[in-house]
Amino acid sequence: MHLRTHDYLYNNRSKLLLILVLLGISLLTTGCIAKSGSNAPIDWAAEMHYTQSIKSQEPPRLYSPEGAVPTTGRELIRSKEEYASLKNPVSETEENAVVGAELYRINCSMCHGSLAQGDGRVGEYLKLYGYIAPPNLTEQATVDKTDGELADILANGINVMPKFRQLLTEDERWLIINHVRNLQGK
Ligand code: HEC
Repeated sequence: MHLRTHDYLYNNRSKLLLILVLLGISLLTTGCIAKSGSNAPIDWAAEMHYTQSIKSQEPPRLYSPEGAVPTTGRELIRSKEEYASLKNPVSETEENAVVGAELYRINCSMCHGSLAQGDGRVGEYLKLYGYIAPPNLTEQATVDKTDGELADILANGINVMPKFRQLLTEDERWLIINHVRNLQGK
């Protein structure tokens, strides 16, 4: 009698276990399909990315009207002429010279070379793949440009030369221009 009760309990326990395992598996598998938009009758597996607030940020997005320009933010959109006549607002202190040199080293030297002779490592690859080589910035063509014209080039880039408008602040770019002038021996 004692033994039989034990057997009975034992058999039932393994059945219960089997039922629990099956239930677990079915929950897991329905969990995969029971999302919004599926045919599952109840949306019990709702997730953040199915909500309207997330959906509204997904494409297609509305673009700003054509011709609209930002009126706030760090930097104005300038014409070529406005750039050309800009004056460098950054003073040439020793401290500024150190910062300008470091900014040049980090952002420009890989292409234009550490002394701006147009001999940076990346320049070799640009040539290898058929692009224009980074020019020697100590040559007359660049010496003759106004600070403002250089500011235009740094802000907006030319061809493979990247635009630094969003990478560096205006002051940082002026510091670099001063450093280029130093390398030109000016
Ligand atoms: C990815 C390489 C690359 C980097 C980085 C780069 N440049 Fe250039 N740069 C070029 C190339 C290439 C040109 C020539 C573009 C052309 O005329 O098509 C150029 C042109 C210029 C010119 C115009 C020279 C002239 O007189 O016409 C200036 C000035 C200049 N770069 C300065 C800089 C400065 C300063 C930095 C760092 C803030 C910099 N560049 C970063 C590749 C680079």
